Amino acid sequence: MMQTLAVEGYRSISSLVLGLERLTVVTGANGTGKSNLYRSLQLLADCGQGRMISSLARSGGLGSVRFAGEGPQPSPVSLRLGFASDSIGYAIDIGLPQVGDSMFRHDPEIKQEHIFAGDVLRPATTLLERRRGLVKADGVRLQQNMPAWQSVLDEQAGNESVPEAGAVRRELRSWRFHDAFRTDANAPARRPQVATRSFRLDDDGANLAAVLQTTIENGGEAEIALAAVHHAFKGSTLEIQGDASGLVAGLRQSGLARVMTAGELSDGTLQFLLLVAALTSVESPGLLVLNEPERSLHSSLMPALARLITQTSERTQTIVVTHHADLTRLLGGASVELRKSAARTTVAGREGRLDQPVWAWPKR
Ligand SMILES: Nc1ncnc2c1ncn2[C@@H]1O[C@H](COP(=O)(O)OP(=O)(O)OP(=O)(O)O)[C@@H](O)[C@H]1O
Ligand SMILES: [Mg+2]
Repeated sequence: MMQTLAVEGYRSISSLVLGLERLTVVTGANGTGKSNLYRSLQLLADCGQGRMISSLARSGGLGSVRFAGEGPQPSPVSLRLGFASDSIGYAIDIGLPQVGDSMFRHDPEIKQEHIFAGDVLRPATTLLERRRGLVKADGVRLQQNMPAWQSVLDEQAGNESVPEAGAVRRELRSWRFHDAFRTDANAPARRPQVATRSFRLDDDGANLAAVLQTTIENGGEAEIALAAVHHAFKGSTLEIQGDASGLVAGLRQSGLARVMTAGELSDGTLQFLLLVAALTSVESPGLLVLNEPERSLHSSLMPALARLITQTSERTQTIVVTHHADLTRLLGGASVELRKSAARTTVAGREGRLDQPVWAWPKR
């Protein structure tokens, strides 16, 4: 299970350490930094896909994501991200590039990466250490002149003498993020889909019907999926229809002579079906992060949504980012309230350093 997430130097988050439970609810008023936290975790997950630097460059580079507050800025400029689970931890430090004549001279650079055992990085718990181009494991040099844009997770994932690199990469690759799904008139989820078994929902929701049908045929979470729809839409039943053009999701509602298919459902109804598919899909992620899952849903759907998320968190560790008070109350669980103080994201109720979960960054 994931124990701690740490972010430093990402937009309004100048420094944040988050202790995690099976279900952690992150709340806070508009503009307190909830979506910044969500995006910084996506960036951390990108480290497992070898695309962290390019994702950062696409979101404006370090110059854009660094804290833009008044007063002295931390020096050197750095963005640091990390996690610690029961068994393994990882921390990455990204900084400004060295001056050079490359056309990519604005690309940020990886300055350091550490993989460690247990919950806190210390010299004694360090398993693998990368400082600029030099990579060492147990004090033994593994590689030198490693390019600043490449992560040890990619370079060393296949190295059997350091299985930790592959383990961290697998962990990060298993995380899944869901923000609002497309539900407009041309949304992919509204169109018929190829009838092929689908174990996880595509980011754009295009395989909605196939994912739901796979869950139903697989048995595992089928009951949760069907009950969630029944609970949310007062006695309606989920029906997947198939013909020559493919599969399409639909709802059989009382008072209607035929099933309403995805193309005909309201935006909120379709959004809820997409969440059901995402949360009950056969392939369950290592960590599921939902950003404002209540978006475009009416308050009356909150009990059904809260039950669905709570049931999901029993098999998958889940973080829910929301500013919906009813949803927060219904979810119960551990809740963390973000506030803004002097333009920085802070956690309510944490006055001193001792209130923070334990975390240590490597020194530059
Ligand atoms: N580089 C930056 N430095 C400092 N603050 C920043 C930077 N970029 C964005 N912000 C601040 O982050 C805030 C937006 O944070 P975010 O989008 O995470 O809010 P939120 O809690 O998700 O709000 P909402 O509930 O409205 O979605 C804004 O107040 C903005 O001023
Ligand atoms: Mg937001």
